[in-house]
Amino acid sequence: MKRTALITGASGGIGYELALIHASKGHDLVLVSRNLPKLEQIAAMIRKEHGVKVFVIDIDLSVQGSAAVVAEKLAQEGISVDILVNNAGFGDISLFSECDWDKQQRMINVNILALAHLTRLLLPGMISSKYGRILNVASTAAFQPGPTMSVYFASKAFVLSFSEALHNEVRDFGVSVTALCPGSTESGFHATALGEGKHVKERKLPSSREVAEYGYRAMMKGRTVAIPGLKNAFMATCVRFMPRSLVVSTARWIQENKFR
Ligand SMILES: NC(=O)c1ccc[n+]([C@@H]2O[C@H](COP(=O)([O-])OP(=O)(O)OC[C@H]3O[C@@H](n4cnc5c(N)ncnc54)[C@H](OP(=O)(O)O)[C@@H]3O)[C@@H](O)[C@H]2O)c1
Repeated sequence: MKRTALITGASGGIGYELALIHASKGHDLVLVSRNLPKLEQIAAMIRKEHGVKVFVIDIDLSVQGSAAVVAEKLAQEGISVDILVNNAGFGDISLFSECDWDKQQRMINVNILALAHLTRLLLPGMISSKYGRILNVASTAAFQPGPTMSVYFASKAFVLSFSEALHNEVRDFGVSVTALCPGSTESGFHATALGEGKHVKERKLPSSREVAEYGYRAMMKGRTVAIPGLKNAFMATCVRFMPRSLVVSTARWIQENKFR
């Protein structure tokens, strides 16, 4: 059945791949990011290759009230959304005492505020039509505190907790909420979080395409939590049985040895 999917952060990385996957399944799209030329270029390519409708919204989700602006634009266009992919997000590596507060605040606004507000605005439509799929992109960072990226890890813990609770609230109404929890993935994420020139030491990271395909399948099955990769799933399980202080110090050691 033809659906309409709204995907935030569709200009690159995991969100871009999710847009291509949705289009290949015949879904119409609403693509959201700050980069209008990039969105228009992607929209033109998708319309040509897949023959679906694509509407683009260029907006900075770190600005308070931006989710309401997105909802207003949808209403003006008469678009109702069946699938919401809250994927836009970014990280920032720094000791908290030395962090760029403005960047941390924008991170909270994108990773938490815009995600929750957009969900609040679009969920009633899904409940009344008795169909909805929501995919919230969290991270393996959601499973433990993360010294040197404390706000980012905490923001993803919010996404995981919020998604699980919401799934429970809406599952009897034909709606499901899935938290996708990838580990390090090939995308623009590390350039934004670490600054240009720094990289993850791991030689081969999973591609954004692999992660997006895994997330799409999990969302369509209505799964609550989806962790791509055996190692990531194992780590997420282990931390539940470890003393909390050991979890935090191990996370710090990993953070300090992960990048070059
Ligand atoms: N890559 C990883 O290692 C990894 C691991 C776990 C979880 N994740 C999560 O996966 C999600 C997607 O990230 P990615 O890896 O695909 O990184 P990416 O390639 O940097 O993509 C991030 C996307 O978010 C959008 N975005 C960022 N700030 C925005 C803002 N203020 N307003 C609107 N859109 C904004 C960007 O669009 P514009 O720049 O065009 O606005 C871009 O499309 C994020 O939530 C991230 O936390 C990533």
